[in-house]
Amino acid sequence: MLIAERLTDNLASLEKRWQEVPSPGCGKEFVFGEIRQNTPLLLIGEALGQEETEQLKPFIGEAGRRLRVTLEKTGIDITQTSIVNCIPRRPLGAKGENRTPTDEELKAHAPFIKELVSILNPKLVLLLGGKALKVFFGREGIMDERGQEATLAGFGSTLFVPTLHPAATLYRPSNIGMFENDLRWTARLLRGDVVDTAKLPPFPFCRTPEEFEFFLDGMLKSEFIYFDLEAGATPPARAIWHWDSRTHIILVSFGWIEHGVPYG
Ligand code: URA
Repeated sequence: MLIAERLTDNLASLEKRWQEVPSPGCGKEFVFGEIRQNTPLLLIGEALGQEETEQLKPFIGEAGRRLRVTLEKTGIDITQTSIVNCIPRRPLGAKGENRTPTDEELKAHAPFIKELVSILNPKLVLLLGGKALKVFFGREGIMDERGQEATLAGFGSTLFVPTLHPAATLYRPSNIGMFENDLRWTARLLRGDVVDTAKLPPFPFCRTPEEFEFFLDGMLKSEFIYFDLEAGATPPARAIWHWDSRTHIILVSFGWIEHGVPYG
């Protein structure tokens, strides 16, 4: 059997079994996802909303539009992604409104979304929001963990990057910058365009133009750059700069924050 056929069979079997999970508090529509085979990025949301059940496609409402626009803005080609949800149904509130899934519902669907990740075996999984983070990592503090990639036992070298749910940028527009930064970082991880700070010396004196160029490259790609100037303390022997007769600038240092990790 060809690998592509096996993948299709595995997906079909999963979809069939997943549809049978009892979901008493949810709508009847089941949306497996927007799945493209052999794509490097898998996006995982929480659950369907109303528009998704009408059009039978994930992330098609307002939050979905924010997601799709931000993907484009940050250089992620949507045709190179698959988009799914932890719960491929719409949790319904007492008046038929959207509802946040309960822990029990997330637990019931968790083995299936995890099996989907194993079948698709993407290079990177973007976890959209606290519920997706909870399903995979058992924790919900998305603000503490956003933008920090991690592997997970049982999923090989697949990297998981938690970020905000795009809806969080709608009800709090000041979150947009964080969401965009995480997606930009995701794009760089996908391209392999990251500086491996583990390979750098612990304190980077730039002694040659090449070393300075390397250092500048890191700064140009970073989220924040910092500049530190120490004046008026006891000078270390080789680092004294005479600014004028009254000011001794002891040390000038630049550094960058490589998506949360300071360097320099
Ligand atoms: N929110 C989600 O988490 N998923 C969707 O598909 C739509 C909105």
